[in-house]
Amino acid sequence: MSVEPASLRDGFPLLAATPELHYLDSAATSQMHCLALDAVVRHETTRRANVSRGTYRLAEAADLAYEQARQTAARFLNASSADEVIFTSGATASLNLVAHAFGATLGRGDRVVISVAEHHSNFVPWQMLRERTGVELALIPVTAAGQLDLARLPELIDGRCRLVAVTQCSNVTGAWTDVATVVAAARKVGARVLLDGAQAVQHGPQDVRAMGVDFYAFSGHKCFGPGGVGVLWGRGELLAAMPPFLGGGGMIAAVTAEETTWAAPPQRFEAGTPPIAQAVGLAAALDWMMNLDWPQIHAGEARLCERLIEGLRRIPGLRLLGPEASARRAPIVSFEIAGLHPHDICQVLDARQLALRGGHHCAQPLLAALGAEACTRASIALYNDEADIAALLDGLGFVLRELA
Ligand code: ALA
Repeated sequence: MSVEPASLRDGFPLLAATPELHYLDSAATSQMHCLALDAVVRHETTRRANVSRGTYRLAEAADLAYEQARQTAARFLNASSADEVIFTSGATASLNLVAHAFGATLGRGDRVVISVAEHHSNFVPWQMLRERTGVELALIPVTAAGQLDLARLPELIDGRCRLVAVTQCSNVTGAWTDVATVVAAARKVGARVLLDGAQAVQHGPQDVRAMGVDFYAFSGHKCFGPGGVGVLWGRGELLAAMPPFLGGGGMIAAVTAEETTWAAPPQRFEAGTPPIAQAVGLAAALDWMMNLDWPQIHAGEARLCERLIEGLRRIPGLRLLGPEASARRAPIVSFEIAGLHPHDICQVLDARQLALRGGHHCAQPLLAALGAEACTRASIALYNDEADIAALLDGLGFVLRELA
């Protein structure tokens, strides 16, 4: 299949309709592919019914589409069974689900290890768990380049550690986590590993079995699918031992006036009506992704990332946050410009059709560790091209002339 940048961009209706737009905020949300959009519309106009409830043919068609979407997500993750795939409202809900349901099996004397590089969605739920249960929370620090300081793992991941919950890729610096080293340290003490894949999934299909993790969370809106849907994958035996997070319809085996017994996973963790059309749309996006030439896309993304970093380095007063272009990194590039607030930078860039995010990026502990309060971030995805990078570098020259 051809992966020429131009044809990839053409598959995204919003980008095709706005050729003047330089969209460099895919770490916040990626654009939605036309096949995902079509799948949602087709589902809503031909198969809309609730799932796991109706016995009429329309409801059976909805059931089938929803369960096929689960199978597609399982293939995207190389999971051993679709029953290990839980649809949620997004990565945040997936991470909170683990913090509540797996967290319910933890208590005083147990330790959860996260990292300073986490998005707030993989930080706050663990602080909340600590408040509820007295579990100890330990932090893997980051290096000056924003990478997890793996030298600290042996002391942090000790015999008390029950879970290591870390990002696969930082939403601020683009640093990839050395997952194999984290998993090896966790295995040594019998701890489980939860990987936050929110920023990783738009850069290709994942293999949860090869990575050796126990839980994996991601959102649909960050991998070219709809918003309002996400996935939690968990090892079957772990899910089976976990109590539910939310109670309601669809997650029960039986309810009496006195008590309730739980359905088996994944239904145990899908209380209420799930995001049905969104799951179907997500599956269309994942299917499309599974047919792309990822080595070629990665080479293109890396080339753009390198060109951007090279250009940024020439700007006086600009400080890059995160690893060098040559490091193992995703094409997410954050920077500060002395004396300029990221919100002002982003506003001036917006007037030149450049969409970037500025702020703390829901990663305040990481920014504090890197000595910044806020930064400007450009995030590159498979539909970006040289023209986007040139426009950004030009735009920053304009910002300096206007604001500095
Ligand atoms: N997690 C998203 C970001 O980093 C929202 O922008």
